[in-house]
Amino acid sequence: MSLNVTRMSLNVTQCHYWTWYNSIVQSCTELPRVQLCALCVGWKWLADEDGGNENNKGGIRAREIRAREIRLYNDDCIKKLNDIPNESIDPVLTDPPYGINYKSKQFPKILNDKRPFTEFIPLLREKVKSTGCLMVFTRWDVQQQFIDKLKENDFKVRNVIIWDKQLHGQGNTRSAYGSRYESIIFCSGKEFRFPAKRPVDIVSERKLPSCRMVHPNEKPVGLLETLIRQVTNAGDTVLDCFMGSGTTGMACVNSDRSFTGIELDEGYFNLAQSRIERKVEEKRIYDESLGEGLLF
Ligand SMILES: C[S@@+](CC[C@H](N)C(=O)[O-])C[C@H]1O[C@@H](n2cnc3c(N)ncnc32)[C@H](O)[C@@H]1O
Repeated sequence: MSLNVTRMSLNVTQCHYWTWYNSIVQSCTELPRVQLCALCVGWKWLADEDGGNENNKGGIRAREIRAREIRLYNDDCIKKLNDIPNESIDPVLTDPPYGINYKSKQFPKILNDKRPFTEFIPLLREKVKSTGCLMVFTRWDVQQQFIDKLKENDFKVRNVIIWDKQLHGQGNTRSAYGSRYESIIFCSGKEFRFPAKRPVDIVSERKLPSCRMVHPNEKPVGLLETLIRQVTNAGDTVLDCFMGSGTTGMACVNSDRSFTGIELDEGYFNLAQSRIERKVEEKRIYDESLGEGLLF
């Protein structure tokens, strides 16, 4: 069990704006393998990204602070998803096992990777808000199985987004093209709207060199951050039910989104937790350097 408490303070500065820090006390009644952090990060001008209006209070500009919450569960998502409240998730951004079943020299095989793992899809239907969306990483040869399962469960499949990895992989070098992309299935809720400009369906982000990878299927944080910013507003809650090394959570910290992550493998869970904690600390230092004092 972990408990983080942010203090309450009021700060009136000479620069004619006031800030306030919210007090957050989160207790966690979950199993010991659950980490719950109450984050107090990411306060910004009201007119920012959210599309809200700047709040003028007699020449004093109000800044807003929002609580960011990070919930990490070392559990089987098929069990854990039942505990997630309905209509509580803005987007689901996830990278399930899709049947590679490959054992590299560097890493052990990942769990449940013998075939495309689609069992989680029916469990998500009630969790995502009608204003939310779903993004599922997959691969060209199994993507139809995910699309069929999504459609069966009433998800509106809108696009397949191409992640251009900028570098191609190895594989059959004589008689197959060098594979340079992965696909991401995009479904949107009835009331979903892009928060800013309509994005295009190709995202280009260099894949990590294998010598820098800490998980066999690790995605670059920049890629997840781009996708998150394309489909959410600051303060939204992102779910990744196959969190792996915690990439989606790190991207949420960078972009001031709340995050719920589930990972079955204890080793990868511990790795994800420490990477996200490190990212929170980096973000706190970065925000402080901009003069945006944070309590955490
Ligand atoms: C494709 S990897 C995700 C990699 C991640 N995107 C990253 O950047 O590190 C899928 C992960 O799902 C986990 N997993 C497999 N079955 C699971 C289940 N039933 N519940 C939760 N996690 C599971 C695996 O241990 C693996 O780490």
